[in-house]
Amino acid sequence: MAIILITGANGQLGSELKSISKNFYGYDFIFTDIDELDITDPVQTSEFIKKNEPGWIVNCAAYNGVDKAETEPDKALLINSAAVLNISESIKGSACRFIHVSTDYVFSGNASVPYDENAIPDPQTSYGRSKLAGEKAAMLHNYTMVIRTAWLYSSHGSNFLKTILLKAKENDSLRVVFDQIGTPTWAADLGGAIMNIISSVIRNQVAFNAGIYHYTNEGVCSWYDFATAIVEEAGLKCKVNPILSGEFRSAAKRPSYSVLDKSKIKENYNLEIPHWRSSLKKCLEQMK
Ligand SMILES: NC(=O)c1ccc[n+]([C@@H]2O[C@H](COP(=O)([O-])OP(=O)(O)OC[C@H]3O[C@@H](n4cnc5c(N)ncnc54)[C@H](OP(=O)(O)O)[C@@H]3O)[C@@H](O)[C@H]2O)c1
Repeated sequence: MAIILITGANGQLGSELKSISKNFYGYDFIFTDIDELDITDPVQTSEFIKKNEPGWIVNCAAYNGVDKAETEPDKALLINSAAVLNISESIKGSACRFIHVSTDYVFSGNASVPYDENAIPDPQTSYGRSKLAGEKAAMLHNYTMVIRTAWLYSSHGSNFLKTILLKAKENDSLRVVFDQIGTPTWAADLGGAIMNIISSVIRNQVAFNAGIYHYTNEGVCSWYDFATAIVEEAGLKCKVNPILSGEFRSAAKRPSYSVLDKSKIKENYNLEIPHWRSSLKKCLEQMK
C-alpha cells in the first residue's frame, strides 16, 4: 500500500488534502503538522521518515507571512528552506516521490505574459527569496516535483476570500488594488490535482517527471476583480472600489503581474483545470 506523508497538514492545502483523501482508497495517508512532525528539526524529520517509509511526501508546511518575513527573514528561511532541505536529505538516494509547493513570488512580477517554468526567478521579497531557496533544497532529491501556485484560498485558515467576506459584511465599501494581476487558486483544486498526479503515477497511467511545474486556476484577474466577484457571488451589498497599489501600504512589495503558464502540468499529467470564477462559486457553496 502506498504511504503518503503530508506535512503542514493543518493549513489550507493540507486540510483540503485531508478531505480529498477520503475519496482515495488503498492509500495509507499520514497527516502531520508541527505538533506531530516539526520539519525544522532535522533529527525528528529524518527519524519520522525512516520509521514510516513513505513512498510519497507532499510538503504543505510553510511560513506564509509575506509582510512579516521582511522583519523575520531567518524564520522564513528556516521553515521555507532549511526545513525543506531536512526532508530532501532524509529521502536522499531513495525512490520516494517528493511534491513541494512553492509560489509565484519567486518572480519579479515585471512580466506582461504568463511565466512558464523556464522564466528566470527574481524574488523581490524575503518570503520570495526563502521560497526560491526552498525550491533549490527540494530539487536536490532526484524525484522531486516543485509546484508553484498563487493566490491560494479556501474555507480554512485566513486568506483573501475570508478577509473580503468579513470586511464586506461589516462595511458599505471597500478599497482593493486593481493594478496587481494574477489568478486565484482554490486549495481544493490544487489538492485534487496533486492527488490525481499521485494516483495516476501509482496506477502507471502517467510517468513521474521530476521538475518545476506551475498550477493555478484558469483565467486572469486583479485583486479588485476577485474581491468584486466574491461580493457578487456571496450576495453582499458592499461596493468595491479600485485603488492603485501605491494607495495601499504594505511591508513587502507585491508582484504587479504574476500569472503562471500551466501548460506543462496540464500536458504532463492530463489535468483539466477549472476557471477561477467557477471554483470561487463552488468554494462559497461549500462554505454555506
Ligand atoms: N497562501 C497563499 O496564498 C499561497 C500562495 C502561493 C503559494 N503558497 C504555498 O502553498 C503551500 C501551502 O500554503 P497554505 O496556504 O496551505 O499554507 P498554510 O495555510 O499557512 O499552512 C501551512 C501549515 O504549515 C504549518 N507549519 C509551519 N511551520 C511548520 C513546521 N516547522 N513543521 C510542520 N508544519 C509547519 C503551519 O502551522 P502554523 O499555522 O501553526 O504556522 C500550517 O498549518 C505553501 O508552500 C505556500 O508557501 C501559498
